[in-house]
Amino acid sequence: MELKRIVLGITGGVAAYKAAELARLLVKDGVDVQAVMSEAARHFIGPATLQAITGHPVFTDLWDDRIDNGMAHIDLTRDADAVLVAPASADFLAKLSQGRADDLLSTLCLARDCPLLVAPAMNRQMWEHPATQRNVDRLKEDGVTVLGPAAGEQACGETGFGRLLEPAELVEALQAYAQPKLLKGLKVLVTAGPTYEAIDAVRGITNLSSGRMGYAVARAAIEAGAEVALVSGPTCLAPPRQARRVDVTSAQQMLEAVEAEADRADIFIAVAAVADYYVLNPSEMKIKKDAHILTLELAPNPDILANVASRPKPPFCVGFAAESENLEEYAELKRRRKHLPLIVANDAREAIGAAQTRLVLLDDAGRQELPRADKLTQARRLIEHVARLYNARYQ
Ligand code: C5P
Repeated sequence: MELKRIVLGITGGVAAYKAAELARLLVKDGVDVQAVMSEAARHFIGPATLQAITGHPVFTDLWDDRIDNGMAHIDLTRDADAVLVAPASADFLAKLSQGRADDLLSTLCLARDCPLLVAPAMNRQMWEHPATQRNVDRLKEDGVTVLGPAAGEQACGETGFGRLLEPAELVEALQAYAQPKLLKGLKVLVTAGPTYEAIDAVRGITNLSSGRMGYAVARAAIEAGAEVALVSGPTCLAPPRQARRVDVTSAQQMLEAVEAEADRADIFIAVAAVADYYVLNPSEMKIKKDAHILTLELAPNPDILANVASRPKPPFCVGFAAESENLEEYAELKRRRKHLPLIVANDAREAIGAAQTRLVLLDDAGRQELPRADKLTQARRLIEHVARLYNARYQ
């Protein structure tokens, strides 16, 4: 399902100010956003702000005569792919759960024929109140998707559940909602980022991997409905919200973390740029500079992917091959040597650390090229391919 046009409903609560940033991020992603505010929301944020960000007039009133036939409650959702109410107040959830329709936003939620998502935001006691929980349960039974709330500090000074998810998290959740659930019920293990092999207390050997491709693969797997463990070398990226991240530094630590997870995994996607060598005798202290040549003794690191793939009952293993020459030939050799059903070839000089990449998928059936695109798009295409091969093999 593609999210091209959404109706963004905003109800009364302090978190309404975040709706402006949410609308901005959605518009930046190419989504056409139509904002509809409740009367109470207008006490917290001005419609002019949302109108400027979305490029559309903002509606509140059921009797608004800017829509010709007086059918705003029907017309506004007719070509929408989804309605997202963020923030959704306790009162609005109560109203929705009863199917009431006494203002434009509640009426269009009742009259819609597209999916409805709500992101609650309220004081923690209002959230925990049995009445609110009853309303939320009923909404879920009615097929409404509930995003959050998060826990943390609240505007009222209390701490607990009831915070609106951050705008970037809401966009992520909305996009995830729209992806087909191709890996539902499966466990996916992903390695990402570089590894770091210590030379001494403050220096080490690493590489230019940013971790972006691996994190995008983890996110695409979550979007596809999988449970994801992300074993990550040092990066400055935030993991996808629902990933279980295990942080490691060296290749040896990555191997141990992967071995602890691999038994449970249905699919293992090794995206990490693992250092080929480690320093045999790293110094605990900082090595002092002197005029002599310094010789480091390096020993080969274990091949994590090959280890997992050579198990008697391996998960479905996917490798990455970054090459700077003879890309597909070398990648295919690597695929055979490591006994992988699928390898993803990319040009090391273009891909590592970059935002966009061109990929070539090599498997038993041949090659498939994924033309240059951002890493999340590529990761979604890869997950689609992995799901197809996995289903052909096991289902
Ligand atoms: O042999 P090469 O390093 O090019 O293989 C790349 C693939 O193998 C990647 O999927 C990478 O994550 C994985 N790999 C690994 N452990 C290593 C080296 C590579 O899992 N020590």
